[in-house]
Amino acid sequence: MLTLVPETVEQYARRHSTPMGPVFEALEATTKERTDVPQMQVGPLEGAFLRLLVGAIGAKRVLEVGTFTGYSALAMAEALPEDGEVVTLDVDADAVAIAQEHWSRSPHGKKIVSVIGDARETIIGQKGPFDLVFIDADKESYLVYYEAALARLRPGGLIIVDNTLWGGAVLEPKETSDLAIVAFNEHVRADDRVENVLLTVRDGMMLVRKRP
Ligand SMILES: C[S@@+](CC[C@H](N)C(=O)[O-])C[C@H]1O[C@@H](n2cnc3c(N)ncnc32)[C@H](O)[C@@H]1O
Repeated sequence: MLTLVPETVEQYARRHSTPMGPVFEALEATTKERTDVPQMQVGPLEGAFLRLLVGAIGAKRVLEVGTFTGYSALAMAEALPEDGEVVTLDVDADAVAIAQEHWSRSPHGKKIVSVIGDARETIIGQKGPFDLVFIDADKESYLVYYEAALARLRPGGLIIVDNTLWGGAVLEPKETSDLAIVAFNEHVRADDRVENVLLTVRDGMMLVRKRP
């Protein structure tokens, strides 16, 4: 599990947050068994936080960039009304097959619509307005996803962007992905269309609210 706080502190925070439930535990186990990168999954703390945010703003339509094995999509779907939807984009059909196996075991799975393909293209075909957008895919494309998301977001809606502290690499960026996150964070901070806060939850979560 990727975390910037000591693992014991992370575990404590998890134990004192609303649990995610058995389908999520199965999803964690399957992702460990059947993928090489289980750490990509948002996990229980961030999952609970996303679920809470979706419920807190009364979201009905959510867009996600980066489905992987479906943990965050299902977490957000749980907080939606019966006629709500999460549209989730990913290029990896094998990971999404694992997601679909688990979504089908939850009464909230039917609220999730999966779109397979390169999200830099498929996001253009998504019709807004969305109440909340969660961005958690290739870091080099974050600016593309952000601009497309903002154009499709209702005034007052939220964009949440994962991995924006990038394991601390934002402090001394070297790799292309480090530099992309640094450029992204600076772009958001300079953007008058929004207000934002960069939270130190897990690997850094940028919360962005589109000004009404
Ligand atoms: C960090 S994982 C998402 C984790 C997910 N939110 C969860 O909770 O399990 C990132 C995902 O982005 C996807 N991805 C990377 N580049 C992409 C692209 N250009 N278009 C669509 N998906 C992409 C990867 O296939 C991967 O599944």
